[in-house]
Amino acid sequence: MRIFKFKEIDSTNKFLKEMKEKEEYDTAIAETQVMGRGRRGNKWSSEKGGAYFSFLLKEDKNIAFEEYEKLPLVIGYSLLKTFESLEPELNFMFKWTNDIYIFDKKISGILVEKSEDYFIIGIGINLNNEIKGEAEKIAISMCKITFKEYKIEEIIISVIEEFKKNLDFYFNGNWDKILFELNQKNYLLGKDLCIEYGMGKRETGKGLNIHKSGQLEIEISGEKKLFNVGKIHITKNN
Ligand code: BTN
Repeated sequence: MRIFKFKEIDSTNKFLKEMKEKEEYDTAIAETQVMGRGRRGNKWSSEKGGAYFSFLLKEDKNIAFEEYEKLPLVIGYSLLKTFESLEPELNFMFKWTNDIYIFDKKISGILVEKSEDYFIIGIGINLNNEIKGEAEKIAISMCKITFKEYKIEEIIISVIEEFKKNLDFYFNGNWDKILFELNQKNYLLGKDLCIEYGMGKRETGKGLNIHKSGQLEIEISGEKKLFNVGKIHITKNN
């Protein structure tokens, strides 16, 4: 595992994607990113004080590709576990597919990309960074809750170590145990949701459990339907 550290970079995901001669668990860490990338083409604001990092996971050809479909959930689970051991008093929630929420605001996000045989796992955590303006309505930083100053690199290493452990646990047949815990912390459970998917399709319903398949179950007009990754809006909190 090599660690590449930057004061400023465009994006740690982009850096690893373009890097020649990749090695598993190579990690890029940046103090700030000028073109931090979020999911669905969104920008990820990367002010100094946050944790911005990416690492590589090599696809194991002996493992069925479908097994990797739950990778975002295993990463989200690892963040949840890291945060819970860091701040045991706080009630972190898992927002399917892989965001962590607290006080109805996002504290971390994950962007998984694929380049040749590697998955590039990019993570942003709001730790010591101040969230300003409109973003304050939807995002929160750990320091704002606890008034502590966090050791960013230590937390990054803990997340990666936690992920390695959980990936092993997952590949060794323990998905049910991970799923059970994720459902205990399922932020979307019981919420009125509007889900956008496919080419401009949109449905509304109530969030249910995360299904064994890793999909989210939503009750729509009395019927349970399963959804793959889409864009979910919460229309009303219950
Ligand atoms: C999201 O919730 O939309 C995903 C955000 C992922 C942000 C991280 S920060 C480190 C890595 N580099 C990037 O450009 N993006 C990810």
